[in-house]
Amino acid sequence: MKKITLAESSQLLDPEFIFGVATAAFQIEGGADSRLPTIWDTFCAQPGRIKDGSDGLVACDHLHRWQDDIELIASLGVDAYRFSVSWARVLHADGSVNHQGMNFYLQLLDALQARNIKAFVTLYHWDLPEHIQQQGGWLNRETAWLFQDYADKVSRAFGDKVYSYATLNEPFCSAYLGYEAGIHAPGVQNRRQGRQVAHHLLLAHGLAMQVLQRNCPSAQNGIVVNLSPCYPASDSEADKRAAAMADAYHNHWYLKPLLQGCYPALLDELPETEQPDTEPGDLALIAQPLDFLGINYYTRTVFEATATGWFRDVKPTAPPLTDMGWEIYPQGLTEILCGLQQHYTMPPVYITENGAAMVDTLQDGSGQDGRVQDEARIAYFQQHLLAVEKAMTQGVQVAGYFAWSLMDNFEWAEGYVKRFGIVYVDYPTQQRIIKDSGLALQQLFRYKQQRA
Ligand code: NOJ
Repeated sequence: MKKITLAESSQLLDPEFIFGVATAAFQIEGGADSRLPTIWDTFCAQPGRIKDGSDGLVACDHLHRWQDDIELIASLGVDAYRFSVSWARVLHADGSVNHQGMNFYLQLLDALQARNIKAFVTLYHWDLPEHIQQQGGWLNRETAWLFQDYADKVSRAFGDKVYSYATLNEPFCSAYLGYEAGIHAPGVQNRRQGRQVAHHLLLAHGLAMQVLQRNCPSAQNGIVVNLSPCYPASDSEADKRAAAMADAYHNHWYLKPLLQGCYPALLDELPETEQPDTEPGDLALIAQPLDFLGINYYTRTVFEATATGWFRDVKPTAPPLTDMGWEIYPQGLTEILCGLQQHYTMPPVYITENGAAMVDTLQDGSGQDGRVQDEARIAYFQQHLLAVEKAMTQGVQVAGYFAWSLMDNFEWAEGYVKRFGIVYVDYPTQQRIIKDSGLALQQLFRYKQQRA
C-alpha cells in the first residue's frame, strides 16, 4: 500500500492544523421516515432524475448506525468531523423544534466531544424541507428569514458543543445546478431564477451569520464555497473572455458579495430580465465578517465561447480523470488559494472538501476480509495535500483539510454508483470497510497527532 508522506517541516503537520473527514445529512443519514420530506426526496421520486434511480431514504443508514460510525471516525485519528444538519429533521413544519431530531445531533456532538473530535457543522447542505419549497423555496425572499430562524434554533440547542458553523455548503450548486443547469433539485432551467436563488441564499447566509455570532461568538463561523479555476479552451480572445466570464459567474459571484459586498461587473452585462431583484442593504448584510472561508476543491474547468457570446464548459477527455470524469489537477488548488490571497482580504481558509470518485472494488468480493486497493485515490490525496502545502509556503493561511468523504454515499444525481469514500460501503449489508486510502490517511493523521 502506498503511503501519504509530508516533509517533517510541513506546516500541515503542525499540531494546530486540523485534519478531518466530511459528510452531509442527505447523503448518509437515511431515516427519512423520522423527518419531513425535502426537495431531494421529491427530485429522486421523479423518473430519470437520478442516474441509478436511487434515493436517500436509507442511504448509509447513518441515523441508526451513528455510534459505530463515530467509532470509525475516531479510529481514523482525525482532529475534526464535518457533517450537516437536516433542517427537515430538527424543525417541524410550523417551525417549532423537533426534539427527537435535535437529540440525534446532540448525542452525536456529545460522542464527538468525548473523543476529542471537533465538530464542524454545516447548516444547509442542499436539503430544503419540501413544505418550504411549496412556498417558493429559495425563490421566495422570506426563505432567508426562515433559514435565520432555523440557524438560531440549532445554534441555541448546540451551544458550545460546536467548534465551527458553516451557514451554507456550495451555494453555487443550489443556485446553478438546481435552477440553471437543472441537474439538481428542484431541477429548474432558468437563468433569472438561478441568479435570484443565489441572491437569496447569500442573504440567508448573512442573516444566519448574525445569529451565529450572537449565539456562538467563540465558534468559528463562516461559509463553504466550491471553487474551480477557469481555463480557456484555446488561446483565442473569445475563449479567454469566456473563461473570465465563467470565473465571474461561477466563482466571484459568491466571493465578491461575501468578501467585498458587491457583485462582479458581469451582473451589469446580463439583460435586465436575468438580473436578480435586490433590496438596499442586502449586500451589506451579506458581507458579514467571516471567521473562515471553507473551500471545496475537486478539479479545474475549461470553457469555450458560444455563438451568443456566452460560455460553455468543455468536458475533459485526456487522463488523468476521476470516475466523475473530472480532470485530476492538483495545481489548481494552489492556484485558487494563492489567487484568493491576491484578490481579497482573506479570513483563514479551510479546505472543507477534497477527494475523488474512483471505481472501487472489494478485492475478494466477500465483504468480510476484502480490501479496496484504491492507489489512485491515495495519489490524489498526496498531490492535493502537497498543493495545499505549496500555497501555505506562499503565505496563504490554511487552518485545516477535510477529505471528502468519510464513506461512500448518495452522490446526488449520480446515485450510489460514484464512490467518494475513504471507507467502502457495501450497501446490501451496510458494512463499512476502510479502503487503502483510508488507511493511508489514518497513518498520516495518527502520525501528526503523535508528534503533537
Ligand atoms: C461537493 C458536495 O458538497 C458534496 O455533497 C458532493 O458529494 C461532492 N462535492 C462530490 O461531488
